Amino acid sequence: MKEAKISLHKNFTTGKIDERIFGSFIEHLGRAIYTGIYEPGHPTADKNGFRQDVIELVKELDVPIVRYPGGNFVSGYNWEDGVGPVEKRPKRAELAWRTIETNKVGTNEFIEWAKTVDTEVMMAVNLGTSGIDAARNLLEYCNHPGGSYYSDLRKEHGYEKPHDIKTWCLGNEMDGPWQIGHKTADEYGRLALETARAMKQVDPSIELVACGSSHRNMPTFAEWESAVLDHTYEYVDYLSLHAYYGNSDNDLPNYLAQSIDMDLFIKSVVSICDYIKAKKRSNKTINLSFDEWNVWFHSKEVDKKIEPWTIAPPQLEDIYTFEDALLVGLMLITLLKHADRVKIACLAQLVNVIAPIMTREDGEAWRQTIFYPFYHASKYGRGIVLQSIIDSPTYDCKDFRGVPVLDAVTVLNEETDDLTIFAVNRGREDDLDLICNLKGFTDYKVIEHLVLEHVDIKATNTEENPDNVKPHRNGNSSFNDGFLKANLPKISWNVIRLAGKG
Ligand code: AHR
Repeated sequence: MKEAKISLHKNFTTGKIDERIFGSFIEHLGRAIYTGIYEPGHPTADKNGFRQDVIELVKELDVPIVRYPGGNFVSGYNWEDGVGPVEKRPKRAELAWRTIETNKVGTNEFIEWAKTVDTEVMMAVNLGTSGIDAARNLLEYCNHPGGSYYSDLRKEHGYEKPHDIKTWCLGNEMDGPWQIGHKTADEYGRLALETARAMKQVDPSIELVACGSSHRNMPTFAEWESAVLDHTYEYVDYLSLHAYYGNSDNDLPNYLAQSIDMDLFIKSVVSICDYIKAKKRSNKTINLSFDEWNVWFHSKEVDKKIEPWTIAPPQLEDIYTFEDALLVGLMLITLLKHADRVKIACLAQLVNVIAPIMTREDGEAWRQTIFYPFYHASKYGRGIVLQSIIDSPTYDCKDFRGVPVLDAVTVLNEETDDLTIFAVNRGREDDLDLICNLKGFTDYKVIEHLVLEHVDIKATNTEENPDNVKPHRNGNSSFNDGFLKANLPKISWNVIRLAGKG
């Protein structure tokens, strides 16, 4: 048995967690919308055609914000196609994913759905084929009270009150050569600045997210962030980051170390934001919106065989394994550790498309393996992150040296004083004996130790066997005199919950 230690003190904090760190993302892509959240003929459909079985699962995840409508999709989207009488809406050839978009669901329907699941919408505007005009018109349509062309059009469409969308993305992945309307950093920076200025004229209360890099290995990474912020600093509030990881080489130790890449990515972007802050002698701090993150690789080959120009084909339908759930857990730990600067994060995506929730048309909805770490983090990870000193055995792998076998983060819920430790044992061979010195938490007890583990690292959940991978409550932990002792089974995700005895 190997040993690891965590030391922390109640008063040494990293920062308050912005609940939007548990956000997600729904794009007009594959079956995310059609037969995902929306399927009028489904036995559970509500009066608006939304699947209530999916609504229940989304509510379980308690997602406070959902980014919409893309993704690559937004860079070719004309939002006016998706409002007004449904029968008059055009069918479009959608270039990003080479499908047919029926526009049966658009801005108003999605906002209705968001209300049903009690989430906020994070709206992206098209800065690929469109620009300032479409962006300010959409904002006027959504947020202006009335008495102007677009706000009156919204009323005519049956929405008397403004939607009051607070958070807006200035395009999507504009650094990516695959993006419709791809731009250089200066081209994008100028357009984002002018769009931001116009949008804040329409509604000064909104918050704006500028596009950062599509991932850390983009050739323009760092220069892109720096140039974009140089243009936009005074008008934007967040800079975006995106990252997807995969295990195509079937190299588990290396795969589970990929959250270190995410960590380095965040640290680098924080440095760039603060460099531009210094350069501009600004008092304003730009925070981070990690608005696409997940595992994405299982579906890449299959997707090449999908017939183009069909409606809602099964694109990006990764079937997640137990090992993927561990990396998702590690990525959540990483995001939480940076709660002082990462204020928004969106698990990409939510339903069917690289998603924790899967559906079958006319059939069931079920939880993928990655559902569970996200569910736990969203349910128990609200509060303040405590600084933890982690002392763990390490290993070397293809991409990293000195990878800690244990990764963990601790969250104090300041309302209930409950304490939750999220911990992953990356080791495949040995359980970890964990000892935590919890200073300032003397009179506490363990109330629950949840464990996600499986004998088969490639185990999945399917419609036929939806509970193959799911957490149990039989974790082994005890608390005495300020010390928590826990057994972390080899290769496992753990949630250890403690509460004061009083
Ligand atoms: O989430 C799937 C795609 O990944 C998004 O459309 C795009 O922004 C990213 O490349």
